[in-house]
Amino acid sequence: MIVVTGATGQFGRLVVEALLQRGTPASEIVAAVRTPAKAADLAARGVQVREADYERPETLVPAFTGADKLLFVSSNGPEEARISQHGAAVAAAAEAGVGQLIYTSVYDATNSPLGLARVHRDTEARIAATGLPSVLLRNGWYTENYTGSLAGAVERGAVAGAAGEGRIASAARADYAEAAAVVLLSDDQAGKVYELTGDTNWSLGELAAEAARQTGKDVAFANLPAEQYTEILAGVGLPGFLVELLVDADIQVAGGALAGITGDLSGLLGRPTTPLADTVAITLKG
Ligand SMILES: NC(=O)c1ccc[n+]([C@@H]2O[C@H](COP(=O)([O-])OP(=O)(O)OC[C@H]3O[C@@H](n4cnc5c(N)ncnc54)[C@H](OP(=O)(O)O)[C@@H]3O)[C@@H](O)[C@H]2O)c1
Repeated sequence: MIVVTGATGQFGRLVVEALLQRGTPASEIVAAVRTPAKAADLAARGVQVREADYERPETLVPAFTGADKLLFVSSNGPEEARISQHGAAVAAAAEAGVGQLIYTSVYDATNSPLGLARVHRDTEARIAATGLPSVLLRNGWYTENYTGSLAGAVERGAVAGAAGEGRIASAARADYAEAAAVVLLSDDQAGKVYELTGDTNWSLGELAAEAARQTGKDVAFANLPAEQYTEILAGVGLPGFLVELLVDADIQVAGGALAGITGDLSGLLGRPTTPLADTVAITLKG
């Protein structure tokens, strides 16, 4: 049995979909979710739905029990909350005695200068301490992190950011989800650490140029000082922790933190990762 946490999130849903597409019987998949009502569509397709709220540890052991493989999808929210939520999930995986724990970490977690890597380093250490057979899926950036706001950027004629000439080896969220499904369905994975990145990298200037090319409109990259970028993000109502995370990410991207290309992701997929232009096209059509 395969248990997927965060299965009502964007990534978790894509993993469940990929498992089903690869022929996994729905009854062999457990969607372990914070809010079971949000998974009614999955239940209707025969997927088992169990409550698993990282903030309510008493839900976690029953949700993970019987898992041959548990895909633990990292949580979102402020750092302190995530550290305690992840601690609870890892402890529950150990108590439930899952056959293998597969965790969505961050690219280059060991050395990454990204602020958000702290949670992942802490979680990876907790996982190692359990002694459970485990696999680390160190996910690079989703291309959608940047294309999500692209339609507005095209309207305004500017992609705003603070990453300078820094390059980002991103891939589509669905690429990482499909790779997770491949790992879940493969034998001999225990102990593996995958550094998952796109096959090519790009700069925010190139993202703006691609949006301009596809729309025929003038779109430039506005490289802003970190303080100004912070004000813009806070001004659109993003929570403080997220503003901090996004600005920090751009600063670290400028220093090359997400430029690395490993080939691990296309290796798992057996095909190239989704090019930036394709994700831009899907976004601008939508
Ligand atoms: N690699 C990247 O570029 C990148 C970008 C963004 C995020 N991430 C990380 O990857 C994860 C998955 O990405 P995503 O795109 O699917 O994000 P998402 O759509 O925001 O999904 C986050 C998932 O975490 C679940 N969650 C939050 N708090 C929880 C709790 N207390 N108990 C149980 N589940 C909880 C959410 O449940 P609900 O469905 O109930 O809300 C949701 O399913 C994120 O949570 C984050 O850690 C990576």
